[in-house]
Amino acid sequence: MQTPDLYTCFGEINAMRLLLLMTPNTYRAQAFVEAARRLDVEVVRGVDLPPAIAAEWNVPLALDFANTQAATQAIIEYAAKRPFDAIVPVDDGATLLAARAAAALGLPHNPPEAAEAARDKGIMRALMSAAGVPCPVFRRFPLASDPAEIARQVEYPCVVKPLRLSGSRGVIRANVPTEFVAAFERLKRILLGDGFPLASTDILVEDFIPGVEVALEGLLTDGELHTLAIFDKPDPLDGPFFEETIYVTPSRLSDEQQAAVSGCVAAAAKSIGLRDGPTHAEVRVNEHGPWMVEIAGRSIGGLCSTILEFGAQMSLEEIILRNALSLPLPTLDRSGPAAGVMMIPIPRTGVLGKVEGIERACAVPHITGVDISIKPHTQVIALPEGNSYLGFIFARADDPATAEAALRAAHAELRFEIRPLIMLAG
Ligand SMILES: Nc1ncnc2c1ncn2[C@@H]1O[C@H](COP(=O)(O)OP(=O)(O)O)[C@@H](O)[C@H]1O
Ligand SMILES: [Mg+2]
Repeated sequence: MQTPDLYTCFGEINAMRLLLLMTPNTYRAQAFVEAARRLDVEVVRGVDLPPAIAAEWNVPLALDFANTQAATQAIIEYAAKRPFDAIVPVDDGATLLAARAAAALGLPHNPPEAAEAARDKGIMRALMSAAGVPCPVFRRFPLASDPAEIARQVEYPCVVKPLRLSGSRGVIRANVPTEFVAAFERLKRILLGDGFPLASTDILVEDFIPGVEVALEGLLTDGELHTLAIFDKPDPLDGPFFEETIYVTPSRLSDEQQAAVSGCVAAAAKSIGLRDGPTHAEVRVNEHGPWMVEIAGRSIGGLCSTILEFGAQMSLEEIILRNALSLPLPTLDRSGPAAGVMMIPIPRTGVLGKVEGIERACAVPHITGVDISIKPHTQVIALPEGNSYLGFIFARADDPATAEAALRAAHAELRFEIRPLIMLAG
């Protein structure tokens, strides 16, 4: 969790007021708070916390993100006394609430149905494919189905995935029916463990799309997509699990391929109704062109945005806030040399012990930072059950290949002691 003083208000005398919606364990809040400070905009934090803890931490607005209706009402009541100029969700968990509350208060935002579609892979696929956006053939099955039965109906290789998890959690490739049954059962354990009801939960089975993968960071203004950055993901993502590791920008795809990626994401955004604010999309590219994996109505996750800079030292978060507050956007062009980030994957499940080699990793040329975000002695869970990282490595170099090589060299210097979990019988 972030330290309580992160929630303390500042800038009470400013003309503009912003509601930032955040979960207590977000990595992303600080960057938004700093951007607001630069713009001299007052920030009110709406945090997904029980009221008692919120009071102790000086959180002005405690909200239950799971209860969108009550949370929207709480925002409306707060805004009656202290009106907002914009509502910005810091990460995925708040996109629907932000859209609903902004709609209720007449502030510009995505339509709530679009925010809903961006969070639900089943709705997303149905809308995208109906609009002719290139995406894999998909089928939806009840979690209560017999996997052996489905295994006979689907094409291989395929990907089994949940509708509403993130960070590649529960996303598993199957090449043959026996792998399919195992993948289905594994996803079922994850979903039941998370409390999804067996009787009313569906899963998706999609054709596996071969190819390289890129991520597009964009800004939507009035339905128009501005591509802010395209990141290559140079580690192959061929399964059976899909661990995110290295992101490097600018992309080494050709200009034509990058233009096709932007066009595909613009069509995907339109198909689900996203039209305002940040978007983060994942696209696979092969000899047939780009294929949508998914699109979200939020910016890039974790600490990855810190490698992006626009114009004269403007952060991605400042762009997002300027757009939300209808302030001038001096530029949307990324500045600086090539940049890369590695989300350090969790190699196996266990308890994190010592972490060694941080200084050596930091000393690798072109490395600009190493941030081990998981504290020692905490449990770490590998994919497909887990969905976090050990931390982040950042690099800047004149070209993307050098940035990528630096990230790999720095990662090779790190040693993570991960002790097995001891299961107590009885
Ligand atoms: N149909 C598919 N074909 C190939 N790879 C896929 C497919 N669906 C998902 N993946 C891989 O799995 C990763 C995670 O899937 P995604 O749908 O983005 O779920 P999440 O919301 O958990 O990120 C993708 O980035 C991609 O590498
Ligand atoms: Mg994804």
